Amino acid sequence: MNITSKILLSIITGTCLVPFTACGSSDSNNQSSQQVTTTQQEQTTDTTTTATTKEDKTTPEVTVENNATAEATDSTESNTLVVYFSRTGNTEKIAEYLINITNADSYVIEAAVPYTDEDIEYNNASCRANQEQNDKSVRPEIVDPISSIDSYDTIFLGFPIWWGQEPRIIDTFLESCDFSEKTVIPFCTSGSSGISTSEKNISELVTIGTQLEGRRFPAGASEDEVKEWYDTLNLNK
Ligand SMILES: Cc1cc2nc3c(=O)[nH]c(=O)nc-3n(C[C@H](O)[C@H](O)[C@H](O)COP(=O)(O)O)c2cc1C
Repeated sequence: MNITSKILLSIITGTCLVPFTACGSSDSNNQSSQQVTTTQQEQTTDTTTTATTKEDKTTPEVTVENNATAEATDSTESNTLVVYFSRTGNTEKIAEYLINITNADSYVIEAAVPYTDEDIEYNNASCRANQEQNDKSVRPEIVDPISSIDSYDTIFLGFPIWWGQEPRIIDTFLESCDFSEKTVIPFCTSGSSGISTSEKNISELVTIGTQLEGRRFPAGASEDEVKEWYDTLNLNK
């Protein structure tokens, strides 16, 4: 390869990296997409585990009926709930670390009409996700809405970034509960976009007792990173 070819190649590579980075490292996402599709299929076929307590993680037969309150049990006495939506598993992984670190209960937001691979094909301008993100009034239905968050003081709310902000189904969740006396801590995963637009949207959409600064994680963040962030929140002080 002569020098001109090398220069040309580096220019082409440089310009192509930007959209890939901005919209979520497509190769690695495709891989996790496979794993998560499996997870989500399992979740959608299991109609009794939408709301789970920490205990449920280790004792699968202990489940909470759909539409039931994700209440803390006597054994966990958790006043923290980790709520998340994850389509391709990246946010779910962070949420799992958080659940492990906090011993919190959890609630998975699932769409009544699940998002297919085609639905999130963001290179297709008219895919479902793009259409929803283009319309702030869209509220995708949640399959088993949580009936109450009364027993929790602190709610971690996790989601992927879709076109710079929270997926509309997060707005559906937010409008379904009363957060006026809760502490809400958003977290997200993304290819590169930050969480600030989502934080603003959330604070403008509903009344929140205390909204702590959120945190964006890359797809492959480690449990140590999540723990370091959690420690900075000083929630137990
Ligand atoms: C429809 C769609 C839009 C996206 N928009 C962005 C974006 O604006 N900025 C970004 O950094 N990543 C974007 N991504 C990448 C995701 O935020 C990233 O892959 C995330 O980790 C996925 O989380 P999940 O696996 O929990 O679904 C987008 C992904 C999809 C499917």
